Amino acid sequence: MNLTLKIWRQKDPRDKGQLVEYKISDVSPHMSFLEMLDVLNEQLMKKGEEVIEFDSDCREGICGTCGLVINGIPHGGRHRTATCQLHMRHFEEGETITVEPFRAKAFPVIKDLVVDRSAFDRILTAGGYISVRTGSAPEANLIPVSKEVADQAMDSAECIGCGACVAACPNASASLFVGAKISHLSLLPQGLPERKRRAIGMIAKMDKEGFGNCTNHAECEVVCPKGISISNIARMRREYFRTLFNSTE
Ligand code: SF4
Ligand code: FES
Repeated sequence: MNLTLKIWRQKDPRDKGQLVEYKISDVSPHMSFLEMLDVLNEQLMKKGEEVIEFDSDCREGICGTCGLVINGIPHGGRHRTATCQLHMRHFEEGETITVEPFRAKAFPVIKDLVVDRSAFDRILTAGGYISVRTGSAPEANLIPVSKEVADQAMDSAECIGCGACVAACPNASASLFVGAKISHLSLLPQGLPERKRRAIGMIAKMDKEGFGNCTNHAECEVVCPKGISISNIARMRREYFRTLFNSTE
């Protein structure tokens, strides 16, 4: 395949940045999108030019490290597909592809396509954990959890923290991410002792980090590579209000 790439280049956080055009030829349709960028970087290295910085790690959709906005859509717009799982066969011969970093005030660009997503880590430290002793695995398995609740918690726990939900949201809200974390922990018995401070702490931190409010656009759900449902945002709100009003429901 022969392609034209318009890629965001930005030297550092203070640089204004711009889209730079590259031509690439003989791209195998079986390559992943990131492998195609690797090939481009090899060509740039051979020419003595600076390589394009982008994030990746597992390259199998489980770590949440990768994240590009491809043709205007975080992760490229394939159903439940992270950037690293996207293949070149989904593009047309001769296509022009625009590649940009996730855009959000709370995710400042570090360089080129790499953004700083440490705001997510700080939200997690505000309550996205269980600190009570749960014992060894056999003891934990003795705590009865219904299949329905276990399935719901597992669905929420699938969030890989990639941040695509933020990049897709017109308000740059992190509500889907935070909702998934709060749901997964609050549904399980081990998460109940810290239930009250979790929702209040994480939501306050999300606001402080500069993420916007959720106004139910649901763009986040569409781009999420793990299919996290916006019902997690509804549960997050319930958790927040039940804490505010000290409800036992
Ligand atoms: S909710 Fe989905 S899009 Fe958002 S961080 Fe988690 S996996 Fe990524
Ligand atoms: S590199 Fe790990 S999810 Fe894409």
